[in-house]
Amino acid sequence: MSNQAAGLLKHYLEQRVLAGQTHVVLKPGLLDQMQGRKKPAAQPLSQARPAAKPESKVERASTPIAATFDRPATRKASIMESPALITVSGNSKAEKLAALAAIAEQSPQARELGTLRETMVFSVGDPEAQIMFIGEAPGDEEELQREPFVGPAGQKLTGILTAMGLKRSDVYLSSICKFRPAINGDQGSTNRAPTDAEMAACVSYVLTEIAIVAPKIIIALGASVCKGLGIGEGVMRLRGKFYDVQGIPTMVTYHPSYILREERLAGGGLRAKREVWEDMLKVMEKNGMTISEKQRGYFKK
Ligand code: URA
Repeated sequence: MSNQAAGLLKHYLEQRVLAGQTHVVLKPGLLDQMQGRKKPAAQPLSQARPAAKPESKVERASTPIAATFDRPATRKASIMESPALITVSGNSKAEKLAALAAIAEQSPQARELGTLRETMVFSVGDPEAQIMFIGEAPGDEEELQREPFVGPAGQKLTGILTAMGLKRSDVYLSSICKFRPAINGDQGSTNRAPTDAEMAACVSYVLTEIAIVAPKIIIALGASVCKGLGIGEGVMRLRGKFYDVQGIPTMVTYHPSYILREERLAGGGLRAKREVWEDMLKVMEKNGMTISEKQRGYFKK
């Protein structure tokens, strides 16, 4: 790879990390092309915004990106393109969610993409919950246990819940994509963020869950979820505010895996943790929860 190409790629990845993105997707063969093994691609990086201008300032030291992968091309789809709610039968929220999970398990739209793995991981938690968290997609631990947020990011989320005075069973934990995104070859424990097409294939399930659970507040975790729910792009800009998703106030904050990455850097992720905590205090206030002085004092400068 030429020094200029390497510099541009490094700069681009740094910008993505600053924007709170956990993964980037490169077109199949792009790394080969950059390393001079093939002609340059005619098309830009799929799914990604163009690389930032080389002269723009990098504000912070480079952060390790989780992984950069080749992946099979997927059909282009607008995520919120007519996402129909699914009609489910049942006398209670729990019954309706169980019926929805059975429909999601079949999911022809998700399965026909051929880019997601077999096992569906549906949501967990209280069907009557007032607070619903939406993450991006199951990873390998979640797939093994068939439960969202049980891996390292899940443990971080459980810690945030504990700080809020909540248990996992008090809230509803969902994902914008119900299947672990696949990676060609020996995937091992490597995870990646869902593509737009993968989120589009599952977004009806999430919107139907929102309609069934009818939480008082939703928390959108990270960049993919913001995009998937149609809130927008750029989690750094969006975080800390409530947005309307199906009439429900939705707080945007960082995905816990972003905190995990930031913790490995100088500073120990203090800024990211403080910002997430500020966002959670707003959620607690909006939900009418009592906030102790100790809770208010966490991460105070
Ligand atoms: N990240 C998510 O968004 N969801 C999970 O279940 C695990 C990691």
